[in-house]
Amino acid sequence: MSHRLTRRSFIQSAAAAGFGLPLIRTNAFASENDQLHVGCVGVGGKGWSDMMETAKSPHVTIQAICDIDDSAKHLGRAAEQFPKATKYSDWRTLLDKEKLDALIVSTPDHMHAPVALSAIQRGLHVYCQKPLTHTVREARVLSDAAKKAGVVTQMGNQIQAYAEYRSAVQLVHDGAIGKVKEVFSWQSGSPRWRIISDRPEGGDPVPKSVKWNNWLGVAPERPYKKEIYHPFNWRDWQDFSNGQLGDFGCHILDPVSMAIGLTAPTSITAEAPPINSETWTHSARVKYVFPGNERTAESTINLTWIDGPGHKPVKELAGIIDESKLPGAGSVLIGEKGSLLIPHVGVPKLLPEEKFVDYEKPELERLSHYVLWADACRGEGTTNSNFGYAGNLTETILLGTIAIRLRGTELKWDAAAQKLIGHAQAENLLSKPYRKEWAVAGLS
Ligand SMILES: NC(=O)c1ccc[n+]([C@@H]2O[C@H](COP(=O)([O-])OP(=O)(O)OC[C@H]3O[C@@H](n4cnc5c(N)ncnc54)[C@H](O)[C@@H]3O)[C@@H](O)[C@H]2O)c1
Repeated sequence: MSHRLTRRSFIQSAAAAGFGLPLIRTNAFASENDQLHVGCVGVGGKGWSDMMETAKSPHVTIQAICDIDDSAKHLGRAAEQFPKATKYSDWRTLLDKEKLDALIVSTPDHMHAPVALSAIQRGLHVYCQKPLTHTVREARVLSDAAKKAGVVTQMGNQIQAYAEYRSAVQLVHDGAIGKVKEVFSWQSGSPRWRIISDRPEGGDPVPKSVKWNNWLGVAPERPYKKEIYHPFNWRDWQDFSNGQLGDFGCHILDPVSMAIGLTAPTSITAEAPPINSETWTHSARVKYVFPGNERTAESTINLTWIDGPGHKPVKELAGIIDESKLPGAGSVLIGEKGSLLIPHVGVPKLLPEEKFVDYEKPELERLSHYVLWADACRGEGTTNSNFGYAGNLTETILLGTIAIRLRGTELKWDAAAQKLIGHAQAENLLSKPYRKEWAVAGLS
């Protein structure tokens, strides 16, 4: 692990010399016997599989676990699985006390950025769930900080490593459909979380197992309500999530973005039902315009995102694919020589099928997004969903959710300046205030 020590020493001395790097309060140490010492924040829900999949690497030791809920389904199960791991209910204490190499962040979305940035500031490698952040500004701060610190990062869009998505990307790179003219992506399922359209009155007693203030973290205070936020149902709420596009965009748009090499959109417009300031809409249509490149037919390329129960681009894809063959979620890339259907977590299909009967598709193996990250932390290989790539993808998705809030308005994005040109209300939605108690230098 000497490369890591060198990097850490560099970060510390560079920070001390005032090169503009964040203050490093590192407690990192030289790992012995080539083990990567990992901490996990949020170990119930998706965090459980994040931890278990990473622990499949023989080079990973799960050293510390943190969850705001110490009941059996959350911290309890993880503690049973890794009895030697130190247990915490506050990630700040974990970071202060533990000597770690890397951190996995699997909290609800509103806490990704504060936890991940604090880890990066200590020189730790980070795996962080998708979407990378809750706001556009947080995404840029994280990707800049990771780059400066030279840590190994990976966003949790694990399907990227599956053979299905990788072969879709390769088909486009191999020129199977020629230059891409337009893209439609959709998620036609109903939201799986509890839908409620406004904040309920009052509060419920906080269960003994739950540290509610720690769950809220940077978000504004509100009373605990049973089954409304924790666990899982926080997805309905603007303070904690970005709705259906926020939940699925980093998966469904990932192979599209990789295949075409999309950069930042320049224009974003949404059609959606009216929205209040509490919850997300349950259907939306977002039109993005991106700059074109060598893989696009024109100097710009349109991508349309559609979500809502049963909502699919049936009319738009008439003549390309039959409604009956459209999966519940996925994308179609319309190219000059054919089209590519990329079902969400499914085998990609070249269209029209009869034209591509004899086309030799790439045969790839499924890789582990988690082990790729753990290996890269140890100096073996690299990660593709590093915070540079993932930050840009997350910014795109979250700009779409700003457009949903301001439905019917075309937003013009200047990515270099991080400005939504001429729209003060939209600009305000690029970031959010943090509760003082949870402020993290560089974010709030
Ligand atoms: N990549 C995927 O396929 C995928 C699938 C599901 C969820 N996710 C992502 O994983 C994250 C978690 O989603 P979920 O469905 O598991 O949510 P969840 O609410 O079901 O579980 C979150 C877990 O984190 C704990 N937690 C909450 N706040 C915490 C904090 N501040 N500190 C420590 N622990 C905390 C909770 O107690 C719980 O154990 C989200 O970002 C979500 O978008 C990704």
